[in-house]
Amino acid sequence: MNFYDIEFVKGFIRMCDDGWQQGWHERNGGNLSYRLSEKDVEEAKEYFKEDDKWQSIGASVPDLANEYFMVTGSGKFFRNVILKPEDSTCIIKVDETGEKYKIVWGLVNGGRPTSELPSHLMNHQVKKKATNGEYRVIYHCHTTNVIALTFVLPLDDKVFTRELWEMATECPVVFPDGIGVVDWMVPGGHDIAVATSELMKKYDVAVWAHHGIFCSGPDFDITFGLAHTVEKSAEILVKVLSITPNKLQTIKPDQFRSLAKDFKVTLHEEFLYEK
Ligand code: 13P
Ligand code: ZN
Repeated sequence: MNFYDIEFVKGFIRMCDDGWQQGWHERNGGNLSYRLSEKDVEEAKEYFKEDDKWQSIGASVPDLANEYFMVTGSGKFFRNVILKPEDSTCIIKVDETGEKYKIVWGLVNGGRPTSELPSHLMNHQVKKKATNGEYRVIYHCHTTNVIALTFVLPLDDKVFTRELWEMATECPVVFPDGIGVVDWMVPGGHDIAVATSELMKKYDVAVWAHHGIFCSGPDFDITFGLAHTVEKSAEILVKVLSITPNKLQTIKPDQFRSLAKDFKVTLHEEFLYEK
């Protein structure tokens, strides 16, 4: 099989292009990673090289020992992924201690995996454990309307979750666990990785104040759909707030409870407070 006919490779490239088309990836903004399954490794391994040198991850991820990830490159543009995936992305292998990685495919013109690799891998570790290995995708994008809201809403999980749930009836069904919010932090470092992975124990989406979102899911469709849904509801909220500071009507806590019953999702009462 040609490398570019492999299902996960096609899915990864398509998702990068989808994000670019949405306008969430100006210049080198954003990054994507995917944890390969055993089948994926079987299909792709004939294209792997073994001679690259081991490098420090900048985080300790022992539960990801010996796993492979497809990752966007640092400083690479999502816009170019569809044109030259081998220049813009790579596949890395984590060593048996979970401290180091090496490149086994891609970045043919040099470079390194995304600067957010510590955040991606720490969050993969959290999600792999929390979902019994089901979640494979971590996605970071610069969603315009979510970023705009971080200047006007309190940086609080309860407020962001409730305000975004109210903006579209399907939202509580798509992200019933809610949304976490990380205060402004320096990107690319260990501290933002730790803060985000703490929130990802509870949520599938974390907002990075004045920066973007970080989200996770089992596959490319669900993860992209999650980012898309959150950003769409943020866009509606930006429009509402631009028209008026006071909503004339909205979805009420009891209506959320009815929705949860019919759609068989659990909505935590902490988000259904009286205003
Ligand atoms: P990278 O180009 O290193 O992936 O960084 C982009 C980004 O969005 C950092 O938060
Ligand atoms: Zn970013």
